[in-house]
Amino acid sequence: MISVAIEQSFDSWRSRAREFLQKGISPSEILWSSREACQDELFHMGEASEKRDRSHVRIPKAFFDLAETVACHREEERWALLYSLAWRISRGGERHLLSLETDREIRRAHAMAKDVRRDCHKMRAFVRFRKVGESATGREQFVSWFEPFHHIVERNAGFFRGRFTGMDWSILTPEKCVHWDGKELHFTEGVSKSYAPDDDELEDLWRTYYRNIFNPARLKLNAMRAEMPVKYWKNLPEAPLIRELTNSASYRVNQMVDRTALTPKDRPKSSYLDGLHESNESLTLSQVPGSIAPYTLDEWREMASCCRACPLWESATQTVFGEGNPNAEIMIIGEQPGDQEDLAGRPFVGPAGKLLNDALSAAEIGRGELYITNAVKHFKWKPSKGSVSGRGPKRLHDKANRNEMKACRPWLLGEIAKIQPSTIITLGNTAAQSVIRQDFRIPSERGVVKGPNDVGFGGKIIATVHPSYLLRVRDRKEKEAEMRRFVDELRLAGDFSH
Ligand code: URA
Repeated sequence: MISVAIEQSFDSWRSRAREFLQKGISPSEILWSSREACQDELFHMGEASEKRDRSHVRIPKAFFDLAETVACHREEERWALLYSLAWRISRGGERHLLSLETDREIRRAHAMAKDVRRDCHKMRAFVRFRKVGESATGREQFVSWFEPFHHIVERNAGFFRGRFTGMDWSILTPEKCVHWDGKELHFTEGVSKSYAPDDDELEDLWRTYYRNIFNPARLKLNAMRAEMPVKYWKNLPEAPLIRELTNSASYRVNQMVDRTALTPKDRPKSSYLDGLHESNESLTLSQVPGSIAPYTLDEWREMASCCRACPLWESATQTVFGEGNPNAEIMIIGEQPGDQEDLAGRPFVGPAGKLLNDALSAAEIGRGELYITNAVKHFKWKPSKGSVSGRGPKRLHDKANRNEMKACRPWLLGEIAKIQPSTIITLGNTAAQSVIRQDFRIPSERGVVKGPNDVGFGGKIIATVHPSYLLRVRDRKEKEAEMRRFVDELRLAGDFSH
């Protein structure tokens, strides 16, 4: 019997497994463990293997992909299981074993891989960074504490590097810690929880944010416990709110039901939640994934449908959320729904939408390729002075103010975070100011935007005019020229994303 100790490293298992496979050593002759290896037995292995079949072994890449995930599982059996599978595939003539879903070992490997992926997902969802200071170069420094079930810190590190590139951070866990300094990831030994700070100003932001995205109508405690095991709650700044919000959920659902039964005019004043405007002003993409990750885009849409974060919901028919291709490379952001969009519940279906569709066709971009949304999700309007053909006053578009834009930012950031477009096209000032910079100006700054932006979006941004501007141009020649320029800008976005 050969006894082999593997450190928690897929690479070390792989190199030992390759060596044993090449020497023709069968699974029943190896005792895999995470303990120290027995030197004597390893020594004998060298002699015993001399007489064996040393033919070249070939293993499909798909197996290594699965094995790499299974290797992160906490169960000690993983190394032996993986070797048995590798043996059967390479030496046992079972080349198609991976597709045999009824096989007991394959099922076990897939179940273990699923546990690992689930743990990774939880870590992405529930890591909350706390600010601890600034580096000498002025970069903000954050620390988070997390307790994973499996060995996932290294596997997940790339995700956090991608999402939180602009700040220095450490994720501390009992087994291994990972640190990002803006250039490289570093790994160190695990530490105890006492190393992680407990409270700070960001906590309030999370709490306010959570309060605002909490939708009592969707409250399913069992599902919530399964998704967010109570084990994780203690590390979440919003945890103290969970009891308070769940206790009042049925009351709030009833309120929502009552509200929908009333006409907009009769609805009660919005429950304007304190602090949101201050807290989400500087919210960037790097800060939102933790809150958004547990939700799908559809759930995000559903939550937005109950948003009362600014008074616009009161006079609007409904929230008009974005729509389109969830894998879109290009995201178009408009200003706010108009009269027809408010009634239809879909963005850009009125006159501005028709012009946009024409321009997209001219630029050879299908609307189905895109994700289209607005910076503000409720129609803001004021009544016209006169009545229209005896049907009462017309609802005239009214520009959203700074607070209304701020209140909608979390929804917009969530959409960007979920869709992850490579290019964003902002139409008009409101969209550009919500994404790029509060004092951004069209037409003077129209074009491809370089440099940092307020949401921390790393892709290309094309800031152009709003289609309603083009609708207003009276002179035919000028209109044609403006339309050509607009189409060129859309085409540019198409070129960027190919
Ligand atoms: N204008 C916008 O900005 N968005 C719409 O959805 C419609 C008109």
